[in-house]
Amino acid sequence: MTHVRRKFPPRRWLSLAVAALLLGWCVKSALAPRPAVPAQDAGSTTPLALFVTADLQGQLLPCGCSEGMRGGLGRAAAQLARARAAGLSVVYLDAGDALFARAGLQPDEAVEDERKAKAVAEAMRAMGLAARATGPLDDVQGAAFRTSLGLPEVPDGTGRVLAVAGHRLGVVAAHSAKGLGEGAAQVRAEGADFVVALYGGSLEAALGALRGVDGVDLVVTAQEAAVVTVDDDSRLVKGAVPVARVQSRGRALLRLDLRFDGSGRFQFLSSSQDVEREAATQDERIALLKRELALPGQSAERKRVLSERLATLVDKRAALAPAPTASGTNGFTVRFIPLEATLPSDPAVDRVVEEFDADVSKLNLAWAKAHGQDCAAPKPGEAAYLGNAACEKCHAATFDVYRKTGHARAYRELEHVHKQYRLECVACHVVGIQQPGGVCRVDRVAGRDAVGCENCHGPGSLHAALPNDQSMPRNAPTRAVCLGCHTPENSPHFDYAVYLPRVLGPGHDAKR
Ligand code: HEC
Ligand code: HEC
Ligand code: HEC
Ligand code: HEC
Repeated sequence: MTHVRRKFPPRRWLSLAVAALLLGWCVKSALAPRPAVPAQDAGSTTPLALFVTADLQGQLLPCGCSEGMRGGLGRAAAQLARARAAGLSVVYLDAGDALFARAGLQPDEAVEDERKAKAVAEAMRAMGLAARATGPLDDVQGAAFRTSLGLPEVPDGTGRVLAVAGHRLGVVAAHSAKGLGEGAAQVRAEGADFVVALYGGSLEAALGALRGVDGVDLVVTAQEAAVVTVDDDSRLVKGAVPVARVQSRGRALLRLDLRFDGSGRFQFLSSSQDVEREAATQDERIALLKRELALPGQSAERKRVLSERLATLVDKRAALAPAPTASGTNGFTVRFIPLEATLPSDPAVDRVVEEFDADVSKLNLAWAKAHGQDCAAPKPGEAAYLGNAACEKCHAATFDVYRKTGHARAYRELEHVHKQYRLECVACHVVGIQQPGGVCRVDRVAGRDAVGCENCHGPGSLHAALPNDQSMPRNAPTRAVCLGCHTPENSPHFDYAVYLPRVLGPGHDAKR
């Protein structure tokens, strides 16, 4: 292949003009606190669609533990792509705490989670991330690791003006009222038309911090330590300045639509009550359908019909457009898009996830082979895990029941999706994780490769040595034991009264 170099005629006047312009711009930027944004056309009316993720906590993809789990960066990316395809100018921001799920990682966990953080960063780049705030969960492996990912960060207490389609979008990152005020003042001074603040703290803290602060049009909160619960659904507090919290771990996406149709400060168009009511109704119907789908013992045909109905509803919900009202003003609308499982996923981000999946298993296995340690021996008098085989000798009848339950297949299900070498997955899918006699390295799970008797009844070595009805840690495991694994996030339909009978039967629980 030959490279053709095009020769441009020497247009001296043009290069001079450009040089002069550049010089002027450079001098200006040297004087200004931040580089000024390149020239924009002030009268642009191109509408903007702004998307924000928050509290992602390293969640690339939901675990797939239950049907219909929300989330996945690929689904978020597909929403951005859809808006771009509709001819909108799209801006993507992240409010922080995206990279890790928790602090205090063990060396093996660090291998897995750093690789995952890299994949999150890659996915964000593929989505065209324009700016982000950072939170404590971004710095779990140190600030140097975070900055090595090369994401466009807005330092705490400051702001940045993004030039998009002829508009100036101000992005502020703050953890306090002071930072919020200073960041807002900065981007306003730099001529921002619209200002989004990414606030590290709770909704309540953000509302407090807003008092006395001028110049912010919308606040998105993130980085609240206790945020990941079943109830942390997205919330919007409507006030003079609306404050939004996005459901954590990538389960929802925030979307703002900005309409430039006038001048001056933007009005929050919350007036489209009908759209909001419609969204709420659809959310309820989606929740009902998902619950119905999760009920056991349905025919494949019935499941298919329900799934199709769900997919249609979810699609409509995602496309619900907030109808802009009165024109002649600058205005914006806010809505959340719950990232339901039936929504499409973006191929570019899917590829990032696939590469991560393939890579992380290799890394984990190699680490285990090079540095893995077996679990420590039990302390004197402490019980160790033995694995199912030890129980079967004396409790054969119980196994007739047990073998028919999902618990017996739990590790095979991981192998089936090629995630058996993932620390974050084996945690709930093997016997005695990080416990004496249990599993402490991903390459040694023999005899512990299931959710076994001891996951519910406790470690059995003392009982096996002295078998009676007093020596097991738990004769009748309670609901709390189940909830250790059946969390609201990965077992959203867990109902003790429904689930318990499915693990018992004649031979396991004499009363039945
Ligand atoms: C050497 C035989 C033996 C082994 C091995 C053994 N058990 Fe037992 N287990 C017994 C006997 C005997 C009892 C007391 C009589 C009864 O309740 O069946 C018992 C009682 C229990 C009970 C209490 C039942 C109650 O009365 O409420 C549980 C739970 C239990 N075993 C679980 C296990 C588990 C889990 C293992 C494997 C780690 C295990 N056992 C291994 C013999 C054994
Ligand atoms: C906190 C505990 C926990 C963790 C961590 C966990 N799982 Fe699960 N997993 C569960 C529970 C509980 C179920 C059963 C949920 C239900 O049926 O309500 C399950 C079920 C599954 C199933 C079976 C789904 C089916 O259709 O039968 C798969 C596959 C699975 N998990 C994969 C994974 C993968 C992959 C990971 C890691 C990314 C993972 N799990 C991490 C607890 C966990
Ligand atoms: C150590 C983690 C753990 C504990 C503790 C646990 N489970 Fe599970 N459970 C799982 C996993 C993982 C699965 C998914 C197994 C699979 O299909 O891969 C599961 C699946 C199930 C299923 C099958 C769901 C279905 O679709 O049919 C039932 C029922 C269930 N668990 C009930 C319980 C009950 C009741 C308790 C408490 C008494 C309990 N589990 C405790 C991890 C656990
Ligand atoms: C998902 C949790 C769970 C698992 C796994 C489990 N059990 Fe149980 N088991 C229970 C519960 C709950 C009860 C108490 C039922 C009651 O009486 O309310 C029980 C009761 C028992 C009892 C006393 C009742 C009886 O049938 O004599 C024995 C013995 C027992 N389990 C042994 C086992 C053995 C052996 C295994 C492994 C094959 C096992 N269990 C696996 C939850 C579990």
